[in-house]
Amino acid sequence: MRKHIVAGNWKMNNDLSMTETLISELKKQTITSDAEVMIAPVFTNLWPAYQALKDSDIEVVAQNMHFAESGAYTGEVSATMLKSVGVKTVILGHSERREYFNETDELLAKKVDAALANDMRVIFCFGEELAERKAGKEQEVVGSQIANALFHLDASAFKHIILAYEPVWAIGTGETASPEQAQDMHAFIRKTLADKYGAEVADEVSILYGGSVKPANAQEIFSKPDVDGGLIGGASLKADDFFAIVNAF
Ligand code: PGA
Repeated sequence: MRKHIVAGNWKMNNDLSMTETLISELKKQTITSDAEVMIAPVFTNLWPAYQALKDSDIEVVAQNMHFAESGAYTGEVSATMLKSVGVKTVILGHSERREYFNETDELLAKKVDAALANDMRVIFCFGEELAERKAGKEQEVVGSQIANALFHLDASAFKHIILAYEPVWAIGTGETASPEQAQDMHAFIRKTLADKYGAEVADEVSILYGGSVKPANAQEIFSKPDVDGGLIGGASLKADDFFAIVNAF
């Protein structure tokens, strides 16, 4: 059975003291659903977050990493460095990385390889822009983002991959894909995986939805059969809201 997962992407928010405060609020909450829970603070706060949460049911994950092990890449962080501070899962391909830092499918394929070579799990993000949806090209775009960055992998690699469909027009905009739009795309993503790797592999991959998920809409979105959880931005910065979403399953 594939897992339910709710991951909070804190993006470039929360300094050290805010991180400590939010984590202490998260620790007061109770997980009443079967969801695996993750938070992704900024690099500088991964170690204190890991220390604070290592005996809890909340996993600390990273928002990004470089593909190289080490070397002359000023400002970058590698998989081994993440692992040395307790991080075992990394978000790759977020639309903000693609848009503001010019991350391409080709670069992301290298990052995915580096994460897997280091026995890390990957939350791989993708999604179409508004103009692409308006032109009816959302499946074409999503299909090629997945194929370009992941289809060089063996089927066994998908045990370590979580997919996150995040339509760019729904991220941070307050506009959410309707539960039906999310389900349609998630079913398409699962079929794309099944066509390449077989139904058994496709059925085991968790596919998260991201884009303005809130306590008010989480339950309806998560009720769809191919939606296995959420990648939560804004609403993950408040402990009550985040846990309302975690417990929406
Ligand atoms: P949002 O962000 O929930 O604030 O829309 C989601 C994301 O970017 O992962």
